[in-house]
Amino acid sequence: MTSAVSRRSVLRAAGVTAAGTAATFTLSGVSNGAEAPVFAHGVASGDPMPDSVLLWTRVTPSPEAVPGSGKGAAVAADAGFARVVARGHLRTGPERDHTVKVTAGGLRAATGYWYRFTSQGKVSQTGRTRTAPSRDEDVESLRFGVVSCANWAVGHFAPYGYLSGRDDLDAFIHLGDYLYEGNSNPAGDLRPSVPPNELITLADYRQRHAMYKTDEHLRRLHARHPMIATWDDHEVADNAWSGGSPSHHPATEGDWAASRAGPRPGT
Ligand SMILES: [Fe+2]
Repeated sequence: MTSAVSRRSVLRAAGVTAAGTAATFTLSGVSNGAEAPVFAHGVASGDPMPDSVLLWTRVTPSPEAVPGSGKGAAVAADAGFARVVARGHLRTGPERDHTVKVTAGGLRAATGYWYRFTSQGKVSQTGRTRTAPSRDEDVESLRFGVVSCANWAVGHFAPYGYLSGRDDLDAFIHLGDYLYEGNSNPAGDLRPSVPPNELITLADYRQRHAMYKTDEHLRRLHARHPMIATWDDHEVADNAWSGGSPSHHPATEGDWAASRAGPRPGT
């Protein structure tokens, strides 16, 4: 996956030196005196390649900039690996739900790195990640954590917390059902979901994804290992197949092909 920086964003590489094991991504933003945590949804890395890794965070520039709201000011961002492998300037805003996703390149293969973000004078937690071995390397072994089917509504994410404590993993592989799309069932759910309805719109998905990212164990795992992810059925609809899903109702949810293609725009 390549950088998903918006068209208003700028990424400039500078200050590249010999690769170190420390990395810093620095985001400088619009200061508005907000008291809410700026990095409420943690940091994450993924898609490790021999010379790059994807870094992610979400900025909350002001209290009203809740996930899926489309509210909040645009934020300017500087990004850099310190000691210093790469540095960039990024900008995010409500059009991408204040998320930041950038591929940091120019890295050494099979090497651990640390990274973090700053915005509005606040510093995120420090994340750890690791690049993949080079393609021609005679690799003796790689070890992955493998996870799937994490349903917020019916259980806690202790396995994520356990994996976050493992120091012998090169990455963790998520086989899908990272989130569940169904509606909330207050009578039976262990944890209530937001939004309470089944996910249909882009704003729905942004809220639900951000809700998952508030889980302490999941945030810890993301901050400790890079993720390699694919999807299963619940990212779209329960037991989805090429022609539909038992939980998809065209009369109220629209055309199946459109649902499968991605979230509906809007709120
Ligand atoms: Fe599943």
